[in-house]
Amino acid sequence: MEAHLQVGRPLNLNTIADKAAFISANTRLRPVPLVPEITIYVADEAVPLWHKTEEEIGEQGLPPPFWAFAWAGGQALARHILDHSELVGGKTVLDLGSGSGLVGIAAMKAGASAVTVADIDEFALTAAALNAVQNNVTIKAVATDLLDCAGDARWDVILAGDIFYERDTAARAFDFLRRNAEHGAAVLIGDPGRSYLPRDKLRKVASYSVPVTRDLEDMEIKQTAVWMLREFALDDHAETAAALAAL
Ligand SMILES: C[S@@+](CC[C@H](N)C(=O)[O-])C[C@H]1O[C@@H](n2cnc3c(N)ncnc32)[C@H](O)[C@@H]1O
Repeated sequence: MEAHLQVGRPLNLNTIADKAAFISANTRLRPVPLVPEITIYVADEAVPLWHKTEEEIGEQGLPPPFWAFAWAGGQALARHILDHSELVGGKTVLDLGSGSGLVGIAAMKAGASAVTVADIDEFALTAAALNAVQNNVTIKAVATDLLDCAGDARWDVILAGDIFYERDTAARAFDFLRRNAEHGAAVLIGDPGRSYLPRDKLRKVASYSVPVTRDLEDMEIKQTAVWMLREFALDDHAETAAALAAL
């Protein structure tokens, strides 16, 4: 991903008046490869959509359309919570860096009591809202950057799919997750080993072979893991599930 899509500056949010119409006109509804029970609006290629967004807005240097893809980390995390619904069942959940909203939608389908999706790109929040409707779930959205907020564990579970691709965001995201874990939140990360994943501070809990978009990843299948914060990880999955069930 790093070679193709790099972080740009924030969107001028008001220049595409109808973001929902733009999304549905420039993407297609497709089942997510590793999570076929969820269907989302996706693009075939990133760069043409990125250029089209810039053309319509009339600005260059915008962030890539992360929201138009089901990233490897999000797919693995969504699969994991659907297959281990005890991890989120009856819990409040934050999907941090939600993009399409795939992970948050999976959490609702797995029985979460409420899901908040958080992303700094308003296109992502619109895409997540559209995708939630398609999948018959309700989610809440937060557009503010939460990463510098105090770790007061407003959520029982925090899920982070594929957010360790950029140095500064990765460091801030890790600190945010750690602060919230200290306040009692359970944290799960889906990541294929992006450049700034702090592997030494994580414990791998599951691995998946994730079908991905060749245009983004230069490969068809990406080995991807679900991780916990090492400091807060329990010894095995059953122990983790039992601890979560007790929340
Ligand atoms: C690679 S995408 C992953 C999307 C989704 N979780 C998935 O796995 O398919 C990373 C997302 O993180 C979002 N992001 C970047 N910095 C963020 C921040 N400070 N707070 C919330 N979201 C952020 C981006 O806008 C983008 O939608």
